[in-house]
Amino acid sequence: MLPRAVLSTGSLVLRAPAESDVEGMTATGADPVAARFLTSLPSPYTERDAREHLAVAARRWEEGGAEFTIAQNGAYAGGLRVSAPDPWGAVEIGYLVAPWARGKGVATAAVRAVTEWLFDQGVHRVELRVAAENVASLRVALKAGFREEGRRRDARETRDGRLTDDVLFGRLALDAGEEAPPYLPLLEGGELTDGVVRLVPIEPGDTEDFHRMMAQPSVAAYAMGPAATLEEIERRCRNTGYWWVTAQRAELAIRDAESGAFAGHVQLAHVVPVLGQAMVGYSLLEEFRGRGFMTRTVRLLVDWAFANTPLHRITAGTNERNRASHAVLERAGFTRECVHRELFPAADGTRADDVQWVRLRSR
Ligand SMILES: CC(C)(COP(=O)(O)OP(=O)(O)OC[C@H]1O[C@@H](n2cnc3c(N)ncnc32)[C@H](O)[C@@H]1OP(=O)(O)O)[C@@H](O)C(=O)NCCC(=O)NCCS
Repeated sequence: MLPRAVLSTGSLVLRAPAESDVEGMTATGADPVAARFLTSLPSPYTERDAREHLAVAARRWEEGGAEFTIAQNGAYAGGLRVSAPDPWGAVEIGYLVAPWARGKGVATAAVRAVTEWLFDQGVHRVELRVAAENVASLRVALKAGFREEGRRRDARETRDGRLTDDVLFGRLALDAGEEAPPYLPLLEGGELTDGVVRLVPIEPGDTEDFHRMMAQPSVAAYAMGPAATLEEIERRCRNTGYWWVTAQRAELAIRDAESGAFAGHVQLAHVVPVLGQAMVGYSLLEEFRGRGFMTRTVRLLVDWAFANTPLHRITAGTNERNRASHAVLERAGFTRECVHRELFPAADGTRADDVQWVRLRSR
């Protein structure tokens, strides 16, 4: 059983929920972001739900868990719950920050403080489960010293009845709990642009354009493996934020800066932090070719990567026959490095050589 405690960290106090929280809880429960990611919240959320929650919170303490209101300067700023320990003594934390208190480190500080308090109470393992699309919460987990332990496929259902992935994080009492600086920081302002092309993280709304592009014969000719279905592409578009914040890869849509139309896709994949290496890959819709879009795109992304990440080598692998791609890389400052013989399998059973290119961080 956890002792009833009041915790304080910086400007925050974590204490048991009280009648005075009802107004803040009602406004927070009715927030669309909360409704989207906390599907167990009643929707629409009313004052009555907030009052009922006070009773649930009291019971949670009795059942061996904990429930806190996060107060900032005396005002309601969010809530945090701790499950009762599982048979092996691990507990799970869930949290919610009021819309007016977000983006100031409230969730990170509260999760960190409660986790460390739980370790002081003898808990050895704390877990978080975060929807793969909930980028703010994925960042909170990493900033609070948790380690990613895997993506659980189709582990939860969205409000509209779609099965979706979540990400399991764990922090052990033995872990140092330090926050590693993000290897791939998110784009400042959410985009990269040179006024002609605009690069923005891929999102589910790009699914149909992406699928159409992958089916164009000149794109399909250089794609690996069987063609992805619309569903597989949608899943890929939903996981962009997860891959990005866990430094697995950055996936961006290329948009025509003038019209906003989807023009193609570019990614930094195969990120190997220990080597400081990643690989750029790209495809452009046929109707946007011949305007220098991909050269601009590769330059923008690679310049951003060298300015904002520790990457030292960015490579590109190209089919030996793909002259247009070779020209893009030459114009974007890459040099030919080597040939991987018979690397690329083709549908007809033949194999093609891969010409590898590289651009190094300039010293
Ligand atoms: C997730 C949530 C708790 C974060 O609370 P918060 O107090 O704003 O969190 P913090 O300020 O500690 O950190 C938020 C991080 O996410 C980033 N972020 C916020 N919104 C973002 C977005 N839409 N896309 C990408 N990153 C985002 C912030 O920049 C910050 O990261 P940084 O320090 O690297 O810049 C809050 O958004 C919330 O209550 N959401 C609804 C409920 C919910 O999702 N709960 C968690 C369920 S697992």
